[in-house]
Amino acid sequence: MSASEAELKINDLSSKINYHNDLYYQKSKPEISDYEFDQLLEQLNTLERQFPELKFPDSPTQRVGGTITKEFENVVHQYPMLSLGNTYSIEELKEFDARVAKGLDGDPFEYFCELKFDGVSISIIYENGFLTKAITRGDGVRGDDVTANVKTIRSIPLRISAKDIPIKFEVRGEIFLSKIAFAKLNREREDIGEETYANARNTASGSIKMQDSREVAKRKLDCYLYYLLGEAISVDTHERSIAKLEAWGFKVSPTYKKCKTIEEVKGYIDSWENERAQLPLDTDGVVIKVNNLEQQQQLGFTAKIPRWAIAFKYKAQSLSTRLNNIAYQVGRTGAITPVAELEPIQLAGTTVKRASLHNANEISRLDLRVGDYVFVEKGGEIIPKVTSVDVSQRKSDSIPVDYITRCPECGTELVRVEGEANHYCPNDKGCPPQIKGKIEHFIQRKAMDIDSLGEKTIAQLFELNLIKTPADLYDLTKEDLTKLDGFKELSINNLLSGIEKSKQVPFESVLFAIGIRYVGKTVAEKLAKHFKTMDALMAANYEALLAAPEVGEKIAQSVVAFFNNEENKKEIERLKNAGLQMESSRQEPEKLSNILDAKTFVISGVFQKYERDQLKDVIIANGGKVLSSISGKLNYLLAGENMGPAKLEKAEKLGVKIISEEEFDGMLAGHSAS
Ligand code: IVH
Repeated sequence: MSASEAELKINDLSSKINYHNDLYYQKSKPEISDYEFDQLLEQLNTLERQFPELKFPDSPTQRVGGTITKEFENVVHQYPMLSLGNTYSIEELKEFDARVAKGLDGDPFEYFCELKFDGVSISIIYENGFLTKAITRGDGVRGDDVTANVKTIRSIPLRISAKDIPIKFEVRGEIFLSKIAFAKLNREREDIGEETYANARNTASGSIKMQDSREVAKRKLDCYLYYLLGEAISVDTHERSIAKLEAWGFKVSPTYKKCKTIEEVKGYIDSWENERAQLPLDTDGVVIKVNNLEQQQQLGFTAKIPRWAIAFKYKAQSLSTRLNNIAYQVGRTGAITPVAELEPIQLAGTTVKRASLHNANEISRLDLRVGDYVFVEKGGEIIPKVTSVDVSQRKSDSIPVDYITRCPECGTELVRVEGEANHYCPNDKGCPPQIKGKIEHFIQRKAMDIDSLGEKTIAQLFELNLIKTPADLYDLTKEDLTKLDGFKELSINNLLSGIEKSKQVPFESVLFAIGIRYVGKTVAEKLAKHFKTMDALMAANYEALLAAPEVGEKIAQSVVAFFNNEENKKEIERLKNAGLQMESSRQEPEKLSNILDAKTFVISGVFQKYERDQLKDVIIANGGKVLSSISGKLNYLLAGENMGPAKLEKAEKLGVKIISEEEFDGMLAGHSAS
């Protein structure tokens, strides 16, 4: 492909991606699937690698990440990032109001109220319209440069094209994980047997400091902006700054309100106390700001906080109630979750009867005893938590909780792997909730997509002894289904055709559906792309698996263990015979050049600019071949960081040329490496 052809293609792909990005993130009306979207991005990425001079600073590929930061650079904030004074009481708020009035010598003033978003604060700098730097708060004076990570957040513009922007300005706001994104992330983690995260705020804060921006991109972080700073910004009120932020394309929460008096502010606080539970993110209070910027200046700052603003924090609603019992739930992967069964109480508008206790460590930390009175709290989050025990009400004969040692569902002795917080029931083939959970996992939309089958029907089919494993679904007959409650001709046909249709879902979905621990949808896609067929994957040993993109020791071990199990092998055989897709139907990447014609490569280690499967695509797209093991015939070992010493030694011994990522880029640009 010539440079001018590439430029046309890059422009076309960029505008397509921007169009779909806008539909997804601003209008919430996507027209294409996530997968199709990712494919467009990958095509653009491949082209930009090939023609680096055509990569623009606002290219949508920035959104997928790809930068590895070992240590974030610590930089000084041009304007310090101060915190706010806090209060929990209306009396103190009135004192704040009196101080403001006094500081302004009795001049009239207004407030601007916003919710206090519970996330991670960020400062983002734009120069000539382009996002150039994003810095965490740090200690307020210096923060970490997390630009590459922030660029992956799709609601943050990479470029502002409005006419009235100053050459340089700074915006500040809160990066957060929405309640939905957080729940989804945890469901996905649970689904593949990973431990879940405790709350959205800490997860957002951990995410923004991850070393691999590609991982950050997957977290689906979001950001509300609430502060505009800079020399040449011609606004006189905070209200106008917010309007500018909105007009320039930043995401601003629509929950703000201008208030004339502190009584009106109180009305705002009261109106959101329970209502905030309906918002898409966690909030923990209200921020009250003097609206006029000149008046803000007049009031100024103390050493640490502005005198023109204050945060009113909602008290987490907490009540004490009796812990009647601890129940234990068994998940699809056999993980045991203890649940507190409580004497029902009314808390923040809902009846609370149950609260998660996470794991055995949490029970010991709280020193829980059945019959105790416990404090239950509902903060911004939806799920109530047990925060502590009211020891003053403890009966003298109470005894500490003896954590169960056997599965409550099937009686099998539980196991706890060193270093893991959860107990597991190892009876994965015989424990009813695990069997049903595996089938529920198998039929979900991201997997085999059998939407005519639900939890209830699965439970009934299981009770009737008609299904024990996913493969049994494909043996179901019309006659079997007549035994189901309320199933008539139409629903029976519907279910059978749903099962039949699932035989067409692509191999990567099948691979995800069979439920190998730690193999989520993304890993399944990578494995399908790398190994191409189920047979090849089953034949792969630990080392071959490690050589696949995104596969670390934990996943490699899990895949090997899964396919070493005879019953699993039989199940796969049955699924294969039923006609499920066991081969990848993916097309090879579009041919770009013959520059690597007939050259063979082995890829090893971690790379700065490329993901491993991207490298593979680039090699193939330019006429080269990727092999999995080193032999004397191999042309190049493409060596990244952390490559195993054995490989290096073997390549050296056999005289294989070892090249770095830069040398590889040089080859693509037409300079020979040999
Ligand atoms: S204004 C100088 N507005 O709360 C004042 N902060 O305790 C700048 N926060 O570090 C902050 N929502 O991370 C402001 N609507 C909002 C906010 C907000 C959350 C956070 C912010 C700040 C902390 C102060």
